[in-house]
Amino acid sequence: MQVNNVNLRISAVRPDQYPKDGFPEVAFAGRSNVGKSSLTNVLINRRNYARTSSQPGKTQTLNFYDIESKLFFVDVPGYGYAKVSQKEREKWARMIETYFSERQPLRGVVTLVDARHEPTKLDKQMVDFLHYYDLPLLVVGTKVDKVPKSRRNRCVSQIRKGLALRQADQVVLFSAVDKTGKDDVWAWIEKQTGV
Ligand code: GTP
Ligand code: MG
Repeated sequence: MQVNNVNLRISAVRPDQYPKDGFPEVAFAGRSNVGKSSLTNVLINRRNYARTSSQPGKTQTLNFYDIESKLFFVDVPGYGYAKVSQKEREKWARMIETYFSERQPLRGVVTLVDARHEPTKLDKQMVDFLHYYDLPLLVVGTKVDKVPKSRRNRCVSQIRKGLALRQADQVVLFSAVDKTGKDDVWAWIEKQTGV
């Protein structure tokens, strides 16, 4: 999809704040610093729309971006940032649990993991949780420009195995630097949302 118009519609915490337009939506989840904002910026052809890493772990809201008034991208706050208090963590867990379990227009979740490393325990927990709710899943392995081409197939197997992915779950390796994988991520989003 060619994107020219993007608007941050709302930073929501509670369901009564979620938009009611009825557009289909896709959520983006992943640990703090994994490259979520960078992926979103590439998808919408902006250099710095979604803010990249100024204050990791600070955004504790669900940010709904209106894409061409056809769909929403929902930026889910990153997990695993060490300096976040236990209380903040619990608040986060309640917020995302409510969102993933109740949100009707949600058509799928893009889960980001760092392609260079084994998925973490928290990455696995997130995927288990999304499987529990039977949400269509695309796993994006980020920063693949740092992985030699000859090792990339191994990355995919490592991700599939480490996260115990199901057959229907897709994996795309992505780089915000050279835009590897951009078209594949868009193709998945278009298929899920029908835009
Ligand atoms: P938070 O919002 O803090 O949770 O982080 P985020 O997941 O949005 O990550 P962000 O996009 O801000 O990227 C974190 C760091 O990784 C930045 O320094 C980016 O420049 C870098 N980065 C992101 N994507 C890539 C990539 O594909 N390749 C390389 N080499 N670096 C990347
Ligand atoms: Mg970010």
